Amino acid sequence: MCGIVGFTGCTQAAPVLLDGLRRLEYRGYDSAGVAVFDGERIEMVKASGSVEHLAELTDGGAKLRGTSGIAHTRWATHGAPTDTNAHPHLSENGRFAVIHNGIVENFAALRAELEGEGYVFASETDTEVVAHLLEKYYDGDLKRTVMRTASRLEGSYVLGVLCADEPGRLFCVKEAGPLILGLGVGENYFASDVTALVSRTKNVIYMDDGEFAELTSEHITVFDRTGREITKTVSHVVWDIEAAEKGGYDHFMMKEIMEQPRAVKSTVEPRIRDGKICFEDFDLSRAELESYNKIVITACGSAYHAGMVGKYVIESLCRIPVECELASELRYRDPIIDGHTLLIVVSQSGETADTIAAMRECMGRGAHCLAIVNVVGSTIARLADSVIYTHAGPEIAVATTKGYTTQLAALYLFAVWAAGLLGRIDEARYAGLVSSIRALPSQVQRAIDLNVHVKYLAERWHELKSLFFIGRNIDYAAAMEGSLKLKEISYIHSEAYAAGELKHGTIALIDEKRLVVALCCQEALFDKMVSNIQEVKARGAKVLGLAPEGNRRIFAEADDVLYVPRGEQLFTALPEMIPLQLFAYYIARENGCDIDKPRNLAKSVTVE
Ligand code: AGP
Repeated sequence: MCGIVGFTGCTQAAPVLLDGLRRLEYRGYDSAGVAVFDGERIEMVKASGSVEHLAELTDGGAKLRGTSGIAHTRWATHGAPTDTNAHPHLSENGRFAVIHNGIVENFAALRAELEGEGYVFASETDTEVVAHLLEKYYDGDLKRTVMRTASRLEGSYVLGVLCADEPGRLFCVKEAGPLILGLGVGENYFASDVTALVSRTKNVIYMDDGEFAELTSEHITVFDRTGREITKTVSHVVWDIEAAEKGGYDHFMMKEIMEQPRAVKSTVEPRIRDGKICFEDFDLSRAELESYNKIVITACGSAYHAGMVGKYVIESLCRIPVECELASELRYRDPIIDGHTLLIVVSQSGETADTIAAMRECMGRGAHCLAIVNVVGSTIARLADSVIYTHAGPEIAVATTKGYTTQLAALYLFAVWAAGLLGRIDEARYAGLVSSIRALPSQVQRAIDLNVHVKYLAERWHELKSLFFIGRNIDYAAAMEGSLKLKEISYIHSEAYAAGELKHGTIALIDEKRLVVALCCQEALFDKMVSNIQEVKARGAKVLGLAPEGNRRIFAEADDVLYVPRGEQLFTALPEMIPLQLFAYYIARENGCDIDKPRNLAKSVTVE
């Protein structure tokens, strides 16, 4: 969740750190802080509120002298988002500053121990124990001190450490959260995400759990848990800083909606050669694929919704049973998973804590794990046996758009590839599905072009207090995502229901104040959806219908209509999501919501 950044070099650190924080603000934005070493002591400024507020307090960083420092943007876990609870946290003697992403699970015991020894705590955070432990263990050897401190911690902790007695040196520690090192010329960095680094360097090292690093302006040295120096591969980031900027749009979310034709193309095109689907980083033989008696898909939030669509599509084409389960549930079950299970993990960030835990649980039982991930070098990508990268490019808005649609595209590719390999579809069907996948980017563009009046609909409906999204089969899976999109950025209550299930209880909530968004893109089920539309209209609800372009009957049933470009029925969830993303966006904008940084949320949920 929180974003951390560290810099050591020969230029003033604070402006560099603030720039990094601005790019990490999607990870948490309730408070922010920066600490630099000014040649004598640690100078620190921190406050609740945004990074922009911190920039005002420090005059864009100009007020803080010093060429090495650490900075943090927070998503509160322990303690309210106050000035005092903001990071960095100082040791009692002021010689150490620490920033932290994660949760120190044994902090209560450590705090009691430290208080018993006379340490006085200033904040309610779990992180402050780290600052006091550093002071307690410091014996002139910073590396040994950091190791000793880390060995006392349980839980998840990615740490950045600044010490006033060690000018120009920073340490960072990784345990269960993202941490990337950046290699510059005469300056070096660490950060939670490459987006904080690409404006200064594209040469990065992805850290693994249990590792820690020492940074000076000239060197980066990485160590394993035992303190042994290790050699890490330097990777090159392929995208430019413009990809992580708004590019003229008011919000990252709108920019990312508009990027979807290109993003889906980037997922699809490299995987289709001479009409055949092939994955550069993933291959299974027919015998291996046949050895799996089921597929389990696990993920959280929107990625789980993509998995739900995947379940319908894979089962339909491959005739293999597919279970799709929330990672936060799967991790605490005793699942029936063994070497005959193919596990598919879906994650935009590749850092979601519940997804990682569920993945470890299933892999520990022998499952082969295929990860569908966007962020290159992320924890999930590195833990998995095989990876399909979605290549969506950096996604900054907290509400995922291109992250989700490219996950769908990757799942479609997998389903058609597996069905072909297993011989469950004939050549003509295979070829037809491949060309339908190739048509997805232009369908997405058409979905954007078709729906110029979504803004007008949003103006009409933005004062709603509650609404329902209904659909059947794949439309039901898409309804879940449409509903989540709306509620997370507009704060309007909405629920997704399988259309046939409404009458089993929830229809009691339908009245003339309710809008029901009816997803009717599964043509074989259109008549069934018409019955459900009539049921809610009979109780006074207004209906916004989504139907394939050219379907005239929907106008007789729904009060308003959004058209979805026609294409392969199995793949409708992808173009169908475009008007729903736009609907959520414009409603949130009408209501003056902070679209890119919705309240209480963070982009990457790296804590439980
Ligand atoms: C969706 O808009 C949310 N930001 C959220 O549900 C997200 O999809 C979920 O936290 C999973 O994230 P991941 O794809 O990075 O694992």
